[in-house]
Amino acid sequence: MDTPTLRWGVLSTANIGRIAVNPAIQRSRNGHLLAVASRETGRARTFAEAHGIPRAYPSYEALLADPDIDAVYVPLPNSLHREWTIRALEQGKHVLCEKPLALNAAECREMEAAAVSSGRLLMEAFMYRFHPRTEALVRLAASGALGALRAVRSAFTFPLTRPDNIRFDPALGGGALMDVGCYCVNVSRTLAGAEPVEVQAWANLGSTGVDLELTGVLRFASGLHAHFDCAFTADRREVVEVAGTDASVTVEGAFLPGTGEVALVERRAGATESRAFEGTDEYVRMVEHFGDAALGGSTLRHLPSEATANMAVIDALYRSARSAGSPVAVR
Ligand SMILES: NC(=O)c1ccc[n+]([C@@H]2O[C@H](COP(=O)([O-])OP(=O)(O)OC[C@H]3O[C@@H](n4cnc5c(N)ncnc54)[C@H](OP(=O)(O)O)[C@@H]3O)[C@@H](O)[C@H]2O)c1
Repeated sequence: MDTPTLRWGVLSTANIGRIAVNPAIQRSRNGHLLAVASRETGRARTFAEAHGIPRAYPSYEALLADPDIDAVYVPLPNSLHREWTIRALEQGKHVLCEKPLALNAAECREMEAAAVSSGRLLMEAFMYRFHPRTEALVRLAASGALGALRAVRSAFTFPLTRPDNIRFDPALGGGALMDVGCYCVNVSRTLAGAEPVEVQAWANLGSTGVDLELTGVLRFASGLHAHFDCAFTADRREVVEVAGTDASVTVEGAFLPGTGEVALVERRAGATESRAFEGTDEYVRMVEHFGDAALGGSTLRHLPSEATANMAVIDALYRSARSAGSPVAVR
């Protein structure tokens, strides 16, 4: 009997597709990358030939009309996530959409509703959640082994130099919080196992109007504070630290650990212990999980409502940043 396979199409020739997610689909045990589309005639064909993708379409609409495609991967600029995710769902495709799921929580709710009415799956492509070290970190925080959680500290920064990058364009949904701070918000909420009640944020804007640097604090009802910084202007840092009343844990390279061995460092009563995790590809793990769920073999671990909740916190952080750090309730 043939192994069930999910047939994928990718909307655009985006960098993240080219370097990480498209190859992950091609290497996955349950996926086949059948088609790519581009808004530029000719670009999809060249891309398809270069990357061994059988079909190429000169528009996103044309790819969505292909009845052989079961699932669509959406790595478009953030401002286009809502429209193309909804159009794909309406065409009966499952959708794996890049982070952040949309421009704001209201858009996310429209996408959630489209997934429900189409009966298809929708998931935000936060690949770091599928790394076994992240899974171990979340289990450790939830187990009580660290004691009561008192602080989460996280950072995701890198130097962004190309001025024509989509991340500098406010109309395309640019900004450091949208691009990398969204990981810090996601990991903070996940480790807290709750939604924050209130947030504060301070941002430095660049000449195009997007936040180049943003520092935020999430206050949870338990008294836990999660603080983070994200930036396009600093050296690459990706760290998550969880401090409990009994022990603390630090994870370096927390979001993009690569495919080599990584560590989780625990400190307890002055003693340090480092636990190693074998190398793996978190993108392949995400794609295979999504494929299993779409093919009916398992339940999707991360629902679109989680993405909406993440976006509601991002909305509140931006509101606070616009009012110079005033406390803003999350709703
Ligand atoms: N999960 C991760 O590790 C990760 C990493 C990086 C980025 N991302 C996310 O992936 C998405 C894409 O990021 P990226 O860095 O890969 O972007 P990118 O290289 O700039 O690609 C975006 C693609 O969208 C298409 N596009 C359609 N309308 C466009 C417009 N008005 N301006 C520019 N491009 C337009 C273009 O493809 P065609 O011309 O072929 O249609 C373009 O290649 C974003 O949501 C980002 O947050 C995720």
